[in-house]
Parts: sequence; structure tokens; C-alpha cells
Amino acid sequence: MDHPSPIHRIRRIRRLAIPSAATALVLALTACTGGVEGKPGAAGVGDKLFPKLGNGGYDVEHYSLALDYDPARNHLTGTVTLTARATQNLSAFNLDFAGMDVGSATVGGKRADANRAGDELTLRPADELKKGAEFNASVSYSGTPKTLTDQDDSHEGWLRTADGALALGEPSGSMAWFPSNNHPSDKATYDIKVTVPQGLRAISNGELKSMSTANGRTTFAWHTGEPMATYLATVVIGKYDIKESKTPSGIPIYTAVDPAAAKDSADVVAKLPEILEWEKVNFGPYPFSSTGVVVAPKGSAEYALETQNRPVIPVDQLDVSTLTHELAHQWFGDSVTPKKWGDMWLNESFATYAEWLWSEDHGGESAQAHFDEQYKKGADDNIWAFPPAAPPSAAHISDEPVYQRGAMVIHQIRKAVGDDAFYDIVQGWAKDHRHANASTDDFTRYVEEKSGHDLTDLWDTWLYGDGKPKSP
Ligand code: TRP
Ligand code: ZN
Repeated sequence: MDHPSPIHRIRRIRRLAIPSAATALVLALTACTGGVEGKPGAAGVGDKLFPKLGNGGYDVEHYSLALDYDPARNHLTGTVTLTARATQNLSAFNLDFAGMDVGSATVGGKRADANRAGDELTLRPADELKKGAEFNASVSYSGTPKTLTDQDDSHEGWLRTADGALALGEPSGSMAWFPSNNHPSDKATYDIKVTVPQGLRAISNGELKSMSTANGRTTFAWHTGEPMATYLATVVIGKYDIKESKTPSGIPIYTAVDPAAAKDSADVVAKLPEILEWEKVNFGPYPFSSTGVVVAPKGSAEYALETQNRPVIPVDQLDVSTLTHELAHQWFGDSVTPKKWGDMWLNESFATYAEWLWSEDHGGESAQAHFDEQYKKGADDNIWAFPPAAPPSAAHISDEPVYQRGAMVIHQIRKAVGDDAFYDIVQGWAKDHRHANASTDDFTRYVEEKSGHDLTDLWDTWLYGDGKPKSP
């Protein structure tokens, strides 16, 4: 329909004036017909810690990105085309996008209005979208992508390096390089195509499908066929040494190492196949179709990140423990993804516990010794500042209670149910929620059902309780 329906007119009148008895009656009648008029989708998904992240009214199935980056000018040109399904009748919907300039936008192949306010980009399609309908939307954009500063003062989004850049997105940075439904609850598959000056590499998630050079520029086309959360998407651009191989069980490995880091990283990178195979024994089948690691330049980020398929680890952060941690995230975080950011302890507890287990199995300290080391910390230590499942604000989601005390929760479960049941739980959890989303409630319920134990006290004390638990 090209002309506004009567329903539209009523809505407009209602906004302009106090409704008369007559308009109120018409509104009531409209409601009775179960009116098909669309409403704008919400500007957030209701995440308590990040109210503006994600958007309501649709669910993305696939992102197709075409990016062109000029490192000398730090200039990015991009087009995102997404395939999504409307979850309500939609007159408009939002994408999360920070910085750069938006050119044109289309929905269903027709030009759509695009409006920006803060980090919200609102698209108003020419034709309303019906609940359940699949649609395509595309947005083209360009500019200098932003580096974002998180509430905990770390940097994410687009991080420039000497000869290129890294894109890192936990928790919100992906909106600095492509418009998206930027919340872990909406996972999708991806095609990421990146064009860079000849001689540089562009590395991303999934598998490299093609590489072609024309007019001094090379295009790398990456495909991610397993669902991925926006915060796990990455692009790494620069000079890199590339190696391709396979783990003993045949999983393709693609590693990219900053040439300046080659010497310092070789021993750790060589351990990747062994770590991954060890994790398969502990956590169950590897959830993705390829693995690897990107060893990024010294100081390029303040942290490592479990970007899907292949974590990005700045060389000054790289050691066996960190690689074990980031690879464990492939099961816990990347495949089984939190429903909301407050559930992030589900990621970090398992990844930290993987470090403890690796050490226990390889002649280092036992997991119990790691636990004891944490437990002996005084009652006013940071580790007891808040319960793992209840970070008080966005500024605290990467604090010790989420990581170390989270790992202590996992250890307490192991002690309560015994090793056999523990490994059944760990593998069953990864299997049941593979490529999906899960919450803390889903987890505690699962552990109790699978083990047959009532663990109320454990949850109350270790997961939700304030302060240092009275006994280990
Ligand atoms: N998830 C990363 C890790 O444990 C750490 C991290 C990087 C992080 N950026 C973050 C955690 C932002 C919370 C928020 O390896
Ligand atoms: Zn982690």
C-alpha cells in the first residue's frame, strides 16, 4: 500500500491532540479487529546491563558484509545486507551503529528512510513488514571507524595498528564497523568480504572461501556457517604470516601471526592442536568447522578475545593458559552463548576453569590448589565484591568475581557431584545448547536435573551470595 491507511491517520491524530471520545471509540474498535498495523521495533532487547544493545521486532538470520579498508587514511567503506525475520508487524526497526556516515538504505529492495540518534539507526521501510515475513535490508556507509571506550575503560570496536587494524566487539564494539542487531541473543551466519591493499591480509571468522587481486587490491571472502553472536565477529588487517594445517582429528587450522611476533609466539601457537584435542576430550565435540588463532601486534589490544573460530591474542597476552582459555570459549560463550550480559559468568567461569584443568592435567597445580589460592583471599578482596551471576553494572562485567569466583562455582559443582557426573554435565550442557543461547537459570536447572542433586545451598552461597562464603 502506498497511501497511508486510516489506522495511520488515527495514530497521527492521537499524537497531536488529546483523543476525543470519537477517536477513542475508533481506537478501541481498531484494537478489537486485531489490527495489522505495524509498530516500530524496540530500541533495545531489555538487557539490564546494556539497555540500548540489540533491537526488538526482528531476528537476523544472516549478515553479508562487503568492506573496503584503506589503512593509510584509516577509512572504511562498507555495505551490510542482512536477512531477517520480522517478529511483529513492523513500521520501522532499529540497528545499532556507532559513528561513520550512512549513505543509502533499502528494505525489501526499496529505498528506506534512515535516521540516526546516538548509536541507534532507524530504518523505515517503504512497505510495512508483516510478522513472520523474511526480509532483506541493506545499509551502505563510510568513514573512519571509531574506537569505543568501555565503561571499564578498555578499548574495543576498531583498533588501528601500524599497518592495519583489528575489529573487536565485546560487549558492544561491533557496532563501530557494521550496523547490526548488536546483542548476543540474536545469533546469525555471516559472509564477510574485505578488500585491502595488495600485500596485506584480511582475516576473519569461519573459512576463507576466496582471495583475488585486481588493481593493486586484494579481496578476502570469509564464510561463517555456524551461528555467531555479533560480539564474536572480527576482522584483522595487516601483514601476517599465514599457516594452514589440521588437528590430529582433522579440524582445519588457520593461524595468522604478526611477523614481528613470529619468534615469541611460535611455541605457544604450535601447541594449539594439542590444546584443542584435549578440550574435545573434556568438553565434547568441537562446535565449529575450523579453528586457529590470530597473534596480533604487541599492544594492539589490552586483552585477548574469543572471536569465533579463531581468537585474537596480542602477542604480549599470549601464553598456553590464555590460548587454552580462549579456545575453551569456543564451547562456552561462542557455541553456548549467554542470553544476556549478566549471564557472562557462564563464559568466563568455564574458560577460567579450563585453565585450571589444563594445569591439573599437565603437571601443574591441581584445580583444587587453584581454588584454595583464591579462597584464601581476605574478605574485603575484590574477588568477593559481588556474586558471579549478578554484576552490579556494565563497568564490572570483566571483574574477578565473574572469572575467578565463577571458576570456583564450577569447582564446587565438581566436588558436589563427583568427576564422572561433572564431565557428563559439562559435555551435556555444551551439547544441549550447542549454537544457541542459555541463561544462568537454564544452567542451574540443568545441573540439578542431570546430577539428581539439590544444589540450592551451592547456588545461594557461591553464585548469588554476597561476600566471601563462610566455608570452602
Ligand atoms: N572475554 C575476554 C576473555 O576472557 C575478555 C574481554 C575482552 C572482555 N573484552 C571484554 C570481557 C569486554 C568483558 C567485556 O578472554
Ligand atoms: Zn574469557
